Amino acid sequence: MPGQELLCFLGRLAGKYRTRAFLVGGPVRDILLGRSGPDTDIAVESDAQKVGREIAARVHGRFVFHSRFLTGTVTLPDSTHIDITQTRTETYSRPATLPRVKPASIENDLIRRDFTINALALEISPGNFGNLLDPHSGQQDLARRLVRILHPNSFIDDPTRIFRAIRFAIRFGFEIELETLRLMRNSIKQGCPALLTPERVLYELRLICSEPLRLQMLEATVKEKLLQTCFGWQPSRDFLSGLQGLASKSTRPDLLYVFLLSELPVTDRFPVTKSERESVQAIRNFSAIRARLIRVKRPSTIYRLLHPVPEPALRILALLESREVASVITLYLEQLSSVTTTVTGRELRKLGLVPGPKYRTVLNRLLYARLDCRVKSSEQELDLARNLVRKMRKQ
Ligand code: CTP
Repeated sequence: MPGQELLCFLGRLAGKYRTRAFLVGGPVRDILLGRSGPDTDIAVESDAQKVGREIAARVHGRFVFHSRFLTGTVTLPDSTHIDITQTRTETYSRPATLPRVKPASIENDLIRRDFTINALALEISPGNFGNLLDPHSGQQDLARRLVRILHPNSFIDDPTRIFRAIRFAIRFGFEIELETLRLMRNSIKQGCPALLTPERVLYELRLICSEPLRLQMLEATVKEKLLQTCFGWQPSRDFLSGLQGLASKSTRPDLLYVFLLSELPVTDRFPVTKSERESVQAIRNFSAIRARLIRVKRPSTIYRLLHPVPEPALRILALLESREVASVITLYLEQLSSVTTTVTGRELRKLGLVPGPKYRTVLNRLLYARLDCRVKSSEQELDLARNLVRKMRKQ
């Protein structure tokens, strides 16, 4: 939670530009709930860019401003952020597109927001510091433990709010207010979430996966047919049990997210990282490896089969596969993957091997010998290296 001193400083600094300044949205909600959140979201009624630039200069930070959305971020030297936005209205030309924004008063800025519990502002300007703006009875909904939208088109304009409603309701143990729930389900029934870009949907799914109650949230997105609508997809029979198994055995958000990607019809159009894409492919193609894995015993063969599989994929498979397969994967992760040779390229050079692809062949053979306990000491390994190099030089 932002400290009072920082807020006073920000309010005073905005005052220099004759603009009122506010802490807005989530951080205000969290203060009222007595919860701490990491965000410092500041809104000013004018000159957001100038205010942001000056804050950055004063705290020796960096400032990036997006003129199209009138939002900016100051990154402090310790990597924390202060978001500085211009209070604004938003208009949506079509459902699920990004809005056009125009500067507006704080009151109008609060009207455009997602839920009453987020349509809150705390003034931080000198003279009015601590004055709460709550025109949509957000405090009352916090007390009643309700997530409620502000206008009937909210989930049509911006279907990402459906993910958000589920996330906030489950995070805080709130209910989604009845009319809000009806409108949310209508938006899903009309297919509005399918109009979102994959990028926006995946952004929401990443947020969900980083929440402590991620499993309940994902289950709710499936129960409400939200994921199905976004991706034109039907969960496989094992999907929910896979999700439950993984969430109960691992607290790593990235594993749940990769598992989700491996089940969803993710294509090349989707903005996923190279490493996520490789893990997804490895999980999808695991059946060929599985069939061989249950037949092999030799550690070096296990190593060769599993070494190309990315670590997140292996962690997921170790939690979801049958006990037989999982124990082999665990053996690889906990023991085999950390085995190394003591001989290095430098020794091979000293032994007279000319640098080239043969280095990899020799080093691999040394590693396999180590894994299979055919060599047990550095001396034995060096002897084997000598023999291998001798043979290679004859070839
Ligand atoms: N907001 C909105 N509609 C959205 C996204 C955001 O109205 N689709 C508004 C809400 O008022 C929200 C604020 O912008 O409080 C900031 O967004 P974000 O940082 O995503 O929300 P937080 O409420 O701070 O959520 P969290 O606690 O997860 O950080």
